[in-house]
Amino acid sequence: HGTSKINSKGHLEIGGCDVTDLAQEFGTPLYIVDEALVRQRAREFMEAFRTTGLRHQVAYASKAFCVMAMCRVAEEEGMSLDVVSDGELYTALQAGFPAERIHFHGNNKTPEEIVMALDAGIGCFVVDNFDELHLLNALAADKGKRVNVLLRITPGVEAHTHDYISTGQQDSKFGFDLGNGTAFTAIETAIGLSSLKVLGVHSHIGSQIFEVEGFRMAVEKVAAFAVEIRDRLNHTFTVLNLGGGFGIRYVEGDQPLPVGVYVQAIADAVRTTCENANFALPEVWIEPGRSIIGDAGTTLYTVGTSKDIPGVRKYIAVDGGMTDNPRPALYESKYEAVLANRANDTLNELVSVAGKCCESGDMLIWDLKLPAVQSGDLLAVFCTGAYNYAMASNYNRIRRPAVVFVKDGKADLVVARETYHNIVGNDIIPQRLQKEA
Ligand code: LLP
Repeated sequence: HGTSKINSKGHLEIGGCDVTDLAQEFGTPLYIVDEALVRQRAREFMEAFRTTGLRHQVAYASKAFCVMAMCRVAEEEGMSLDVVSDGELYTALQAGFPAERIHFHGNNKTPEEIVMALDAGIGCFVVDNFDELHLLNALAADKGKRVNVLLRITPGVEAHTHDYISTGQQDSKFGFDLGNGTAFTAIETAIGLSSLKVLGVHSHIGSQIFEVEGFRMAVEKVAAFAVEIRDRLNHTFTVLNLGGGFGIRYVEGDQPLPVGVYVQAIADAVRTTCENANFALPEVWIEPGRSIIGDAGTTLYTVGTSKDIPGVRKYIAVDGGMTDNPRPALYESKYEAVLANRANDTLNELVSVAGKCCESGDMLIWDLKLPAVQSGDLLAVFCTGAYNYAMASNYNRIRRPAVVFVKDGKADLVVARETYHNIVGNDIIPQRLQKEA
């Protein structure tokens, strides 16, 4: 998919770059991002909205993969940006991302984070709870500002997804509950706070969603709520944000819809419900993360040792693991992979791919068909663009890999491989523990 192919040497090639050359130049493990594919996905969302005729913003959910080069691509493609922490906000600002297109999420924004965002002049705060409403109002008032807010509501829609990552159901740490009247009280409160300008509401029903039904239900609930607010409080929402969660194909059997289908379904539902209620068409915002960056990422590893347990299983170990991709350990996520330096060879061995961390759960793939694997072979694991680098850790003091963007035969380093200095750089040996010279 994307610009990936197998070249005449039988090597995997991405963005016109032979990955065996990338391994030589940048080392492994290496995250490789197919920049053309990222841009294509962004354009699919933008184009799908354009055809609906609705005013819209597509905010890239930067939590999926937030580095400065990615912020530049998001900006160039006309996307807005969803950030959830001072670190993501800082990254975006350092990349020169236009502040007015930044939306700030999070269920526990600190006063320092709010001040940072106020000073930067971001476009919108997505307020999660009553404490934040009052804190934001007070901090904005201190600065003589009036800020745009959306209120995050919990619509009570459960998306088909892994338990750990579903956020739309009522028992959730996020947002104001729609079902029990809390959301109404929250809007009433927010309207009364003079430093807040209530643009509308936000809902996010989960992640890695394969059908449109959940989005339709969410739109209906959110739109009905907008009508209720108009009728009872005489306040008209101008923005409805439906969040992210559009699924991607990790392995055979995953059947996501083309992104345009999700957008069309959301747009149709907004149009129908609003027209029925004689409600002026609002702007529609969405926040795709995984579906922008997920399948554009590939992780390249070098195979090291192997362990054959006759009649049971053969393990092969790579030079990374749960430190660069914690998703199999966290969510039992499945991945596909190929031997990148011998991509045309017959698949005659069944192996399980282990990482190098000191933990039995550090497995990347169970039961993968590969050609007979040798130490030094390169393994390419697909669909690692989202929530991989973003969730990478230094467990076992393993250094985070480098990230390269590939496009038209060129590879650009966008995140350098961590150094040993990065590993001990923040360590301090107190005087009393220091060795005598
Ligand atoms: N908007 C909000 C408010 C969100 O909470 C999320 C994801 C998104 C947008 C983007 O969702 P996406 O389009 O990427 O599905 N670490 C997990 C995923 C956690 C998603 C959390 N929220 C994983 O690796 O699968």
